[in-house]
Amino acid sequence: MPSLRVASLSILLVAGAVFYQTRVGPLISLGGAFRVVEPLKNDACTKVEGAEACEKLVLHSPSGHVYMACSTLESRMNWLPYHMALNASGRSTTDHVAIYDPTSEKIIHTRLEGFSDARGINVHGMDVVPSKFDKNELFVYLVNHRPPVEEAKARVYGADSVIEIFNTKVGSDVLTHVKTVEDPLIDTPNDVVGSSDGKSFYFTNDHSTKTGLMRVVHAYLSSRVTNVAYCHVDAGCKIAAGDLAGCNGIARGKDGKIFVVLSTTSVSEIRVFEEQDDNSLVQTDIIPADRHMDNIVVDEDDVAYIASIPKTMHFIFVHQNNFSIPSPSSIHRLSLNTEESSFYGEKYKLEKIFEDDGSQVSAITSTVMDKKRSVLYIHGISAPCLSICKV
Ligand SMILES: *[C@@H]1O[C@H](CO)[C@@H](O)[C@H](O)[C@H]1NC(C)=O
Ligand SMILES: *[C@@H]1O[C@H](CO)[C@@H](O)[C@H](O)[C@H]1NC(C)=O
Repeated sequence: MPSLRVASLSILLVAGAVFYQTRVGPLISLGGAFRVVEPLKNDACTKVEGAEACEKLVLHSPSGHVYMACSTLESRMNWLPYHMALNASGRSTTDHVAIYDPTSEKIIHTRLEGFSDARGINVHGMDVVPSKFDKNELFVYLVNHRPPVEEAKARVYGADSVIEIFNTKVGSDVLTHVKTVEDPLIDTPNDVVGSSDGKSFYFTNDHSTKTGLMRVVHAYLSSRVTNVAYCHVDAGCKIAAGDLAGCNGIARGKDGKIFVVLSTTSVSEIRVFEEQDDNSLVQTDIIPADRHMDNIVVDEDDVAYIASIPKTMHFIFVHQNNFSIPSPSSIHRLSLNTEESSFYGEKYKLEKIFEDDGSQVSAITSTVMDKKRSVLYIHGISAPCLSICKV
């Protein structure tokens, strides 16, 4: 029955081609398997020791202080729920928010007051928002990946994640605990954007479940199983935008805009949403990217800076197994398109503004731009130190 064999072979070939086109091809191109790193603006970088493994940076622009959510490299090897590293006993008990002060050029470690959870803080995403009541007061929103109460079962249950709210004063090294927000919808939180009254926030869930094989399968198939949720300390949490694939960094822009970075093996894009009166989010734009992206931070002029990864395959399969092997870094800027092409529907412009092979700046997951000082601050979840690059 040669015709049947030919038929099955053709079906197999077509299926293979479709699989390649939709899954393998994007993985290789987005993952940067053959991408050549093109150094850009990386020749004036300095390193500042004293804070390692900081996943997220936020700039307080009036003071120039850079807030950083930091851990230790050793801890990130053992306890990184995003990558299913769930060895709770190997995690650091010294996770903290650090502040880089550009005047003294020093890093200050903050301490917590009024915080009594013995499981400590286990940092990932963060936001720092000036209070609308007092400009010298700041609210600090932190994702806290607590281990489960039965720590030994962490591999089975995954992290018992919550969002913590603290307040502090500009320049202070003390964070005073305001509230721990626990909710079934706070499942796999990645990043958070807070409000200026200290009472509500949006956050991204980056996976469909805390543990299990389906996490990998969903990421690989770009399944739309992640979401952005909204919580208010009095009213609880609800889904603000659902059915999204690979939600990661989130940031607030001007006029009720919320930016969300989506990142799966075959998808990398920035979605723009508009906040509604009921705190749900309505999507207005999709900006595709040529590589995987992580955290996004918006400056006072409504321009977004995004940590991007030139070689994700290398980042995941080589660097994540040995943090001392450098991983290339790049940065993209997202702004409103004021050029002629905006008439043809390109509302936003996404440009690469920085790239390094990892020797100057390794393993980026977050960046902020200080326009007054013309510097980019760069750090990463598995990076050894803060990098400051003149641009
Ligand atoms: C978990 O962490 C502990 C403490 O650092 C370490 O002794 C142990 O080897 C780790 N286990 C695994 C499987 O990595
Ligand atoms: C990690 O990489 C460094 C630098 O390449 C090497 O010296 C070290 O032996 C590696 N560690 C492990 C555990 O493979």
